[in-house]
Amino acid sequence: MSLPTPSFQDVVRSRHSARGFLPSPIPRDTLEDILQDAQCAPSNCNTQPWNVHIVAGKKLDALSAALLDALRAEKYSKDFTFDTADYPPTCRERASEQGRTYYRALGVARDDSLSRAEVVERNVRFFGAPHVALLFMPSVGDNVRVASDVGMYAQTFLLSLAARGYAGVPQAVLGYFADTVRQILGVPGELKLLFGISFGAPDTSHPAFTYQQGRVPLAESVAWHE
Ligand SMILES: Cc1cc2nc3c(=O)[nH]c(=O)nc-3n(C[C@H](O)[C@H](O)[C@H](O)COP(=O)(O)O)c2cc1C
Repeated sequence: MSLPTPSFQDVVRSRHSARGFLPSPIPRDTLEDILQDAQCAPSNCNTQPWNVHIVAGKKLDALSAALLDALRAEKYSKDFTFDTADYPPTCRERASEQGRTYYRALGVARDDSLSRAEVVERNVRFFGAPHVALLFMPSVGDNVRVASDVGMYAQTFLLSLAARGYAGVPQAVLGYFADTVRQILGVPGELKLLFGISFGAPDTSHPAFTYQQGRVPLAESVAWHE
C-alpha cells in the first residue's frame, strides 16, 4: 500500500520538535535517503562544511552514559556560547514561554528541582530516540557563515524526516559537552560541535506531544520595502 505524498506545506507546517520516541530504528536505506536530501542544502560558495556523525545501538548507549556523567559532574566543554540572557527582550520572552509550555505539558512545577533535573537529563538520554546526529563544523573566522550553512543542513534533514513520518529535535544542550562527544566518537579537536539532533519514529502518546510551539505574526519578523 502506498501512502499519500504530503504537500510541501504540510511537511513544513507539521514538523515539530519531538521529545519522545519509539525505540525502533529507521532502516539504513531510508536513513541514507534522508541524509542524501540533507546533502542538498545550500551553503556559502558550496563549501558544504557540515561533518555529521550518526550514532545508534551500543555506541548510542555509551555516548548517553558518558554525557550523563558529564552533565551530573557539570563537566561542560562548549565550543560555542549560548545564553538566552544575552538575547533581546522579545526573544527572551519567547524562550521563557517555550520553557513554561514544555514544563506545564510534562506536569513539572517551577519549584520541583528534582523533576526539572530529570527533564534536562532526558536531553542526554536522547529522549528515547534510536539515533542521534552530531553536527560538527570547522572553525572559520567568527563561525557565523559556517554555522548558518549547518543550520540549513539541519532544517533540510528535519524536513526530510517529517516528510517520511519521522521526527527529530535539535539540541544545543548536546553541544555543552563537545569534548565528551569528541572523545567517545573519536572526532578530532579541530571539528567543533554546533548541536545534535535526536531522531526516529515519534512516540505521539508522550506528554511532550500535547502542545505545539506557536510563531509570532509575520509583522513581527518581516519588513516590506517597495
Ligand atoms: C539550534 C537549536 C537548538 C535547540 N536546542 C534544544 C535543546 O537543547 N533541547 C530541546 O529540548 N530543544 C531544543 N531545541 C528545540 C526548540 O526548543 C524548538 O525548535 C522551538 O521551541 C520551536 O518548536 P518546534 O521545533 O516544535 O517548532 C533547539 C532548536 C534549535 C533550532
